[in-house]
Amino acid sequence: MHFHPRTGSVQQTVIGHTARVFARGIVMPNPTPTEPILTAKDVRLRRAELVRNTQGTGFTPLMTIKLTRDTTPQIIDGAVEEGVVAAKGFPDIIEIVKSYGGWESRFVVPDETFGRMEEVGLPFSWHCELPPDAGEKLGIPFTQREVECLALTEAAIYSRFPRLRIIVEHLSTAEAVRWVGNKLGETVEVNGVALPRVAGTLAIPHLFLTIDDVGGAKLHPHLFCKPTPRFYEDLSSIRAAAVSGLPCWSLGTDSAPWTRWRKECPEGNAGLFSAPVALPALAGLFEQAGRLDRLEDFVAKFGADFYGLPYNEGKITLVKDPEQPMKVRREYGGIVPYLAGEFLPWRIAGTTSN
Ligand code: NCD
Ligand code: ZN
Ligand code: ZN
Repeated sequence: MHFHPRTGSVQQTVIGHTARVFARGIVMPNPTPTEPILTAKDVRLRRAELVRNTQGTGFTPLMTIKLTRDTTPQIIDGAVEEGVVAAKGFPDIIEIVKSYGGWESRFVVPDETFGRMEEVGLPFSWHCELPPDAGEKLGIPFTQREVECLALTEAAIYSRFPRLRIIVEHLSTAEAVRWVGNKLGETVEVNGVALPRVAGTLAIPHLFLTIDDVGGAKLHPHLFCKPTPRFYEDLSSIRAAAVSGLPCWSLGTDSAPWTRWRKECPEGNAGLFSAPVALPALAGLFEQAGRLDRLEDFVAKFGADFYGLPYNEGKITLVKDPEQPMKVRREYGGIVPYLAGEFLPWRIAGTTSN
């Protein structure tokens, strides 16, 4: 369950919405834009803060490191020793360089690093989009950057590192759904256990929004995220994937809070704070599809299967009670949540711990 718990006072404001409900979550390695989690040492520091802020909840933060051009095989070893569950790539691990008079995009992370991840069984968690300069240099608009990046990923990573396990995060296009879906059934053996080679997380924005919601009428900065929600056919294929019951799809809320002033400004940041509403909203979606029976697998099991983790023993109880709906607050400590101010028929009635 991919999420961004941030740091400092923002973490203190938001973490309870995840830690009180979920028994664990995969912590993305970008607590702030300028202080990424790059090494085992950073992992220790950030994990300690999360443990402090989730005391008494039983929550386990599953840590990751951020890949860069400087991530060496030794850094991978150190991170694995520290217990990280994945190394995460953001679009900044791709550079677009001049070649033979044209432009070429390529990964900057050394091959030996991907090779070591493959060897030790550390999955590649992948925000699969070309970086913003793909527009100017390659003429590829932002709506196409995921698909173009998948083609590069297929050639440069998937084909060349056959035992590297890849989890494509927050898919936003029908093409990406097909790419991951086509690889269903491929496995890689890690410590004697066959685990899926490729999987995908589906995030709240791409399960509920299209580009029209973000900027079709007026600009809605609180709905802006990366990858930017796309078109209606993308939305329907992402929804169909979520309720399909296929084990390659799991929830990654991608809850990514920003304070109001960092959203409502000339260069508003990407990310939705979805943690308070993720489960009630999903229950409504699965109910509409007549597939409430598949919600638990999507939320709690298929992600664990990809990482080879045991299932949680605890339970989350959701109830539908239109008489007593969940009222979503307009703000949490200066952060505007997804569905702010709305009433939701489903709510979390309780949890039992592990
Ligand atoms: C994320 C964030 O805010 O940290 N934003 C987002 O729109 N998803 C970054 C990311 O997941 O790429
Ligand atoms: Zn991302
Ligand atoms: Zn994310």
